[in-house]
Formats: sequence, C-alpha cells, structure tokens
Amino acid sequence: MAHQHMTEMLDLDAEVLHDFHREVISWAGELVPATGTARIVDLGAGTGTGTLALARQLPAAEIVAVDVDEEMLEHLRRRAGGAGNIRTMQADLDGEWPALGPADLVWASASMHHLTDPGRALRQIHDLLRPGGAVLITELESFPRFLHNAAEDRGHAEMDRMRHEAGMHMHEDWGALLRKAGFETRERRFDIELRPPLPASAARYAEVTLHRMRDRLADRLSPADLAALAAPAADDLTIRTTRLVWSGVKPS
Ligand SMILES: C[S@@+](CC[C@H](N)C(=O)[O-])C[C@H]1O[C@@H](n2cnc3c(N)ncnc32)[C@H](O)[C@@H]1O
Repeated sequence: MAHQHMTEMLDLDAEVLHDFHREVISWAGELVPATGTARIVDLGAGTGTGTLALARQLPAAEIVAVDVDEEMLEHLRRRAGGAGNIRTMQADLDGEWPALGPADLVWASASMHHLTDPGRALRQIHDLLRPGGAVLITELESFPRFLHNAAEDRGHAEMDRMRHEAGMHMHEDWGALLRKAGFETRERRFDIELRPPLPASAARYAEVTLHRMRDRLADRLSPADLAALAAPAADDLTIRTTRLVWSGVKPS
C-alpha cells in the first residue's frame, strides 16, 4: 500500500505541477545537441514522469531509465506502452554502476538525495557524459503543503528529521558539489503556488500525500495533529512547494 501511494504521488506530482515540469523539460531540450540522436539517462526514474516527458519533448532521443526498484520500472514500462526509444535498467546506484554512457544528458529528479555518496555519484555522471553533455538535478527545497497550519508544519519538521536519520542528503548544495566534480553550473529556483479553483487531480494529490504523511508519522505526532492532517475541500486548496534545479555542463 505504501508503495502504491508513492507511485500515485509521483504521477500526480507531474500532472498537478505540469507548468513547472514543462519548464524544466524544455530546459533539458536546450541542453542536448539539436541534431542526431541524443542519448539520455534518467537516474532514479521512479514511475517515469521525467522519462516520458523527455521522450515527448525529444522524440528522436534514446532514453535509459535506471532505478533500484523493479516495481517502479514495471509501472514505467506500462506507461511507456512499448515505446522503442525507452529502455529500463534495474541498478542500485550505491553499488557498481552499469555501463550507461556515453550520454548527452543525465536527468536526476528527486533522486540524488537518496544516494549514499553524492560526490561519488557526480563523478560517475561526469564520466558517463560526453564532453559538452549536461546533467539536470531537481530537488525539493520544500515538500508540498496543502493546509498551511501548525500541524502540517510539525508534520514536515518530523518528516525532515526522519529523512535526516535515514541518511538522506536533502539540503545539499548541489551547485557546489557539481562544480567540485568539474561541471559548469546554473541554478534556478521555482517557488510554486497553485490557488483555487484547482482540478480534481490536485485534490487527489493532497489526499494521497497527506495520507502517506499520516501513515509515516503515526508514532511521531499527537492524535490531534494526525487528525488535523486531513485533505481540505478542493475549492479551499492552495498548494505550495519549492523546487531547485541545477544544470551542470561538462566542459568540451
Ligand atoms: C522520489 S523518487 C523520484 C522518481 C522520479 N525521478 C520522479 O521525479 O518522479 C526517487 C527514486 O529514486 C530511486 N532510488 C533510490 N535509491 C536508489 C539507488 N540507490 N539506486 C537507484 N535508484 C534509487 C527510488 O527507487 C525512486 O524511484
């Protein structure tokens, strides 16, 4: 069930925050060569929201979607519907990396923070890129908020603590790490605020995200706070989240 929520949440994130996703995908389009078949690697591809959007934006590209989780990759393959230019590869990026290069673009959305050794991962990315190739890293500066109340603040503080305890690299300075690995960088910040009226998918996104939060915090929040983490009515719903995106270009 937890897995199912995660899968649905990732798909809804792409649907509800489509303007943001479209902007980053079009940035990706500017980073690959204008002619020929671009080779793209999606690291920690999950349900494939990035893979599929990249395939739509760059129909001539060949894309390899990598993830440790075979269930996610199966979901991705189903969504890709047998598209010949998309391959999946199951691999644990904390271990030995499979041969993924040479690539023109590496896409890593909300996945780098999971890796045990970010510096090592960036060196591997640098190695697999062609000279002039680029990496785009997206991370969540703040997770989506729907309620804007004290219970939600406490819930997020607790989730942050859990991620920290699990060793995740949530608030890394990816720009500095990219430069250390030899990349030329650019950073963009997206402060997203979606106001009512919002579509039904947005209400579902709030419901699934808050449900997952209640599950994960069942032992860590008071019953009153847990009860307060209930999705608001759709016509009351405002969604706020901040995403940071870094590009790193490997000098030619
Ligand atoms: C938050 S999801 C992001 C998925 C997708 N990139 C997106 O933006 O919707 C993080 C993904 O990274 C994958 N992941 C975590 N640790 C990994 C590892 N060591 N090797 C490969 N993939 C990993 C997870 O299985 C999950 O699918």
